[in-house]
Amino acid sequence: MADLRNIVILTGAGISAESGIDTFRGGGGLWEQHRVEDVATPEAFDRDPDLVQRFYDMRREAIQTKQPNPAHEALARLEHEWAAREGRRLLIVTQNVDDLHERAGAENVLHMHGTHLNAWCTQCDVRSRWTGTLIDRPECPECGARALRPDVVWFGEMPYEMERIYAALREADLFVSIGTSGAVYPAAGFVRDAKALGVATLELNLERSQGSNWFDESRQGPASALVPEWVGEVLRKS
Ligand code: OAD
Repeated sequence: MADLRNIVILTGAGISAESGIDTFRGGGGLWEQHRVEDVATPEAFDRDPDLVQRFYDMRREAIQTKQPNPAHEALARLEHEWAAREGRRLLIVTQNVDDLHERAGAENVLHMHGTHLNAWCTQCDVRSRWTGTLIDRPECPECGARALRPDVVWFGEMPYEMERIYAALREADLFVSIGTSGAVYPAAGFVRDAKALGVATLELNLERSQGSNWFDESRQGPASALVPEWVGEVLRKS
């Protein structure tokens, strides 16, 4: 690890599970309680905008009551320590739409599936920070149109920031995947992209995931324990 310089970290719902935010798959996951086709596609929004807005309003409200856990805090610490070292880079790419990485103090975070705390105006294309509800059709603060939707990536839509993510992977020495089931592409393919580029790969997840076999190393356990432990290792050895 002595020559470890550039790290790309992918996070998924598992890193926020211990903060009390539901994951998507598995027992009690969000996609057991709601059908993806009803709430997380552009077609669902065209068909029943109230249902979709209500679903995201509830989630937006819920995440604001949650707090970062030791896994988010350890990554923020690593990011800061890394930034203080000459010529090293660290990027957190999250599939999560919560802001727990940022509230733990991380600054270099790409939200590839968008964020609950933005509203996107489909009229003027401007994103505004949004902590309230959207079901009541509020006006866009920019253009006044009543055309705001949650700024989250739905199934069938293109994830954000892909160019920056692939550019970071090309420069990386280590790719770490934390708390994601490896079920949704393109994020699920990053491990193979990384391997093809000769980047070392590590998975930290509660259990083995669909992609575990692709990783050089896979560790199982809760993120609140595994992540601080791994961060401690990295900081000690490099
Ligand atoms: P999933 O719900 O698919 O997977 C969560 C993963 O976290 C599982 O592999 C769990 O075993 C693991 N996990 C649960 N608790 C954990 C803990 N305490 N510590 C560590 N790991 C834990 O969530 P994602 O992989 O993030 O996309 O889902 C990917 C995308 O699918 C989401 O961004 C969302 C969803 O549909 C969109 O909505 C576009």
